[in-house]
Amino acid sequence: MKRPTIQQILDKDHLIIDDRFGSPQNDIEEILLWVTKWNYEQLLQHQNKRLSFTQYLRYILALGKRKRGMPIAYITGYKDFGGRRFMVNRHTLIPRADTLVVVEYARRFCVEHGITNIIEIGVGSGALITTLTLELHNPSMTFIGTDISQDTLKVARKNAKTHGASISFVYNNLLDNAENFIPSTKYIIISNPPYVATADLNEPSIAYEPKLALDGGADGMKYYEELLKQISTLTHKPEAVFFEIGFNQAQLISQLTKKYLPTADILIRKDLNSLDRVALIQMNPSQQH
Ligand SMILES: C[S@@+](CC[C@H](N)C(=O)[O-])C[C@H]1O[C@@H](n2cnc3c(N)ncnc32)[C@H](O)[C@@H]1O
Repeated sequence: MKRPTIQQILDKDHLIIDDRFGSPQNDIEEILLWVTKWNYEQLLQHQNKRLSFTQYLRYILALGKRKRGMPIAYITGYKDFGGRRFMVNRHTLIPRADTLVVVEYARRFCVEHGITNIIEIGVGSGALITTLTLELHNPSMTFIGTDISQDTLKVARKNAKTHGASISFVYNNLLDNAENFIPSTKYIIISNPPYVATADLNEPSIAYEPKLALDGGADGMKYYEELLKQISTLTHKPEAVFFEIGFNQAQLISQLTKKYLPTADILIRKDLNSLDRVALIQMNPSQQH
């Protein structure tokens, strides 16, 4: 079998991927970069070359998976987030670029309010807490990440180690027995909990991702409600809570916050596409941010 040149692959193969699954041209490029281990410039420079037999076999297998709708990140085993590469697998959500706004609002808050400890509930691949740890770049702070999946925690631990981020990972259900890991000094809680309404789980774009990372119950609000309820009972409360939210959940999260933390302030922040994405709940509203 005569193997096509890189140029021929780039010209033709995007036509066989359904564009409901993202951008077919980018997908082909990403698979080629993964197979060849080249960077993008090298790929462009070598357009007249053919893949080796082994590379071509891997390429064809990957293309088949992509055609069936598997996200590129699960094919290659990694996803870039905030300029760093994170390992992912079928146990972890693929980190989304929109989550970077949560990192940035939390980072700013920590610097402005002298926060010394951060707890993330539901770390997944660990991309959020690892990025925040590295961006804050403060060895006197402590970082704790929790998840209810041991498989997920394994990936998060690996990613934190790869990037040299010092984070303690704890296997836990939300904030159960929180007194075991809540620090005695100022801290914040961050979470991007599962928030997809159960009826929306058959969306093709998320079909390969773990239900445990996505299913937020009938209206998608199950985990926010449970977390807010638990936070309301803590003796030593966080200075603030940062939730990633769905674009249509601002009103619901505001109502839940009023119900469980009536004296707290809630601010909704947008993502890069101008959609509501972050709920910042501040416990002591007299301190402005
Ligand atoms: C939407 S994913 C977020 C992953 C990661 N923080 C991110 O932003 O890419 C939600 C995570 O919460 C975890 N999770 C689900 N139920 C949980 C629970 N009861 N307690 C702690 N973590 C939970 C899932 O395993 C998953 O890793």
